[in-house]
Amino acid sequence: MKTLKFKNGDYMDAIGLGTWKSEKGEVANAVKIALNNGYKHIDCAATYGNEAEVGEAFDEVFGKGDIKREDLWITSKLWNNDHKKEDVIPALKQTLKDLQLEYLDLYLIHWPVAFKPDVSFPEKAEDFLSLEEVPLIETWKEMIKAKEQGLVKHIGVSNFSIEKLEELMNDTDHAPEMNQVELHPYLQQDKLLEFCSRNGINVTGYSPLGSGDRSDEMKADDEPSLLENPVINKIAKKHGASAGQILIKWSEQRGTAVIPKSTNEGRIKENLQSAGFQLDEDDLKQIADLDDHFRYVTGKFFEMEGNSYENIYND
Ligand code: A2P
Repeated sequence: MKTLKFKNGDYMDAIGLGTWKSEKGEVANAVKIALNNGYKHIDCAATYGNEAEVGEAFDEVFGKGDIKREDLWITSKLWNNDHKKEDVIPALKQTLKDLQLEYLDLYLIHWPVAFKPDVSFPEKAEDFLSLEEVPLIETWKEMIKAKEQGLVKHIGVSNFSIEKLEELMNDTDHAPEMNQVELHPYLQQDKLLEFCSRNGINVTGYSPLGSGDRSDEMKADDEPSLLENPVINKIAKKHGASAGQILIKWSEQRGTAVIPKSTNEGRIKENLQSAGFQLDEDDLKQIADLDDHFRYVTGKFFEMEGNSYENIYND
């Protein structure tokens, strides 16, 4: 499998296990299956509400002794209600406690959006803090401190546009090492990828399979299906692979990391096996033609009349 390199020589496996939407009763089992079947990269976040269960799985697996913490890459993310400078490191410490870890490999600012500290998910405009009240740079400087304190090895962001990445890069001498964004054949993000590559920022793609298990409120009625796309299925048939494997392989072959979520044993194994074949030029050309800038995760749930957030992705 491909790996993504970092400036200090560290590297992460391109294919990791996603845990967004993994139910509490299922996520620990999914993480154990993944680790026992060769995954070395697990993607978590405080807001997924399941880090304590993921931590139980880590504790059990490390306790057996075959798999060592230092051989894994574990990512987590700072939630939007912990952007104030006094809240960043305590939130990170809570995540470390939940995950039963001494350090993270990568910690990300989850969104360029801030909520009031007591708001988990906003319902009205007053639940937000503006970026004038809590500038992203204030949060980023604390992320840098967390790295200096050895609580995390690498720091980055998620859902950041080029302009927002530039803000952090211009105002500190520590550029984000990762931008985790939605990425799949309907949203190929060539411009963002080119910018990140030019500036030494690695990219991880989320929702690589279209996140069909999102709640109904997060879905548009007329959403296109990635897994049922005829071009993807034709290419899958040609390689004797599944549609999911083609989507994962496409991300990996493009040089990004990819974090398909599954709690199903067969699909967890199948997704890692995507590393085992190559897409050819004709496949890549046909997939390139599928790009229509379509987002499954629109960010619209952060845009409310009377708050200062609109067009979060600047597109
Ligand atoms: P399950 O957890 O039952 O396997 P995404 O990673 O884009 O958020 O997509 C996750 C969704 O895709 C989940 O509903 C997950 O279901 C499903 N899924 C995961 N792997 C595969 C696969 N190889 N083929 C089809 N569906 C998959």
